[in-house]
Amino acid sequence: MNRLLVKNLAEIVTPLGKTALRGKAMQDVKVYKNAAVYCENGIIKLVGIDEQVLSKLDGITDIQVLDAQGKCAVPGFIDPHTHFLFGGTRADEFISRLEGIPYMELLKRGGGIVSTMRQTRLMTETELYNTGKKTLENMLRQGFTTIEGKSGYGLDRNTELKMLRTMKKLRKDMPVTLKTTFLGAHAVPPEFADRSTDYIDFIIEQVLPIIKEENLAEFCDVFCEKNVFTIDEAKKLLLAAKKAGMKLKIHADEIVSTGGGSLAVEIGAISADHLLSVTDADIEKLAVSDTTAVLLPMTAFCMRKEFAPARKMIDKGCIVALASDFNPGSCYSYAAPFMLALAVISMHMTINEALTAITLNAAAAVDAADVIGSIESGKKADILLLSKPDYRFLVYLTGINIVEHVIKDGKIIF
Ligand code: NIG
Ligand code: FE
Repeated sequence: MNRLLVKNLAEIVTPLGKTALRGKAMQDVKVYKNAAVYCENGIIKLVGIDEQVLSKLDGITDIQVLDAQGKCAVPGFIDPHTHFLFGGTRADEFISRLEGIPYMELLKRGGGIVSTMRQTRLMTETELYNTGKKTLENMLRQGFTTIEGKSGYGLDRNTELKMLRTMKKLRKDMPVTLKTTFLGAHAVPPEFADRSTDYIDFIIEQVLPIIKEENLAEFCDVFCEKNVFTIDEAKKLLLAAKKAGMKLKIHADEIVSTGGGSLAVEIGAISADHLLSVTDADIEKLAVSDTTAVLLPMTAFCMRKEFAPARKMIDKGCIVALASDFNPGSCYSYAAPFMLALAVISMHMTINEALTAITLNAAAAVDAADVIGSIESGKKADILLLSKPDYRFLVYLTGINIVEHVIKDGKIIF
């Protein structure tokens, strides 16, 4: 039996529940002062006031004890939208974008996602594994104990499978919960130039069945955007994926509003992501649905775009989560404190809402709010110990990583 007690905490701060918090309820985080948390075999058993937790442990021996004086505990962060696995980088394009060349223009010129596709196709599985491992280690340092990763830089059968198989290996080897998403419809590859619908059919007929057979991805996603995949193409693919038993996600309304938000609601997607250009009508639909709106503030910042209307979405009753979108193009960052600062300072979310959005609601965005995302009895013991006694320092100490210890599945990783 693996027993861990974290005692003497200045505070434990967490949203509560096994489902996402919607709208104003995102504000309702629980704060325990002078607190302790006790875990057995990777599961949280007791949470509460220090003396009360300790009194219940009388007679139990063989407990690893961590004295966390002056520290605060929050749930492990969850990043429900990343493209963390890829070959090469695109610094030149980053500079071009800063000089004014639009993101979609670079893609049109054969750069962008297609440039990373070329570099990823050339990688061996071992090379891909090694770069992915480094990234996951670094993300763990930021406090991310659960990470979603997408394919989408292969855009052919073998490379898409190579990406997903590599993630399957990483999941086994790394102390993070890795959720995998098939994003074969990330861009139209050169082999299918001007034949996006044929490419969708190719994915449905030739790639999806293998992914199912090898159980390589829990989710299917699509980049639904003007000049990439239309609403109809997205719908065709996602319905095929649903039929194959997969859960759905959509890159929706990122650059141009094409109705990706409503499509997500219509087909019962777990999440609609980006939503920089979401319409008021689609916000209303999201607000009465169980689809989580995953907002990616660092992408908006890096693309010099208006942020998604987080305040409006929360006030209307949407389930809002935050994610990094880490990728070599639109957002080459997984800096959790920066993301939280943008959410609170620029998008006008409260600190409590941002905490809920990066924990319990982010868990919902990977369909796992019943097992992760909060510090309460029965959940996985994924816990961060912050170097400050007050969780508000997550944003107040702007852009600085204050994660001092990461506990994953009840084990102190560092
Ligand atoms: O979510 N927009 C599409 N996909 C990514 C960017 C991928 C890339 O540029 O490599 C995104 O922003
Ligand atoms: Fe993305």
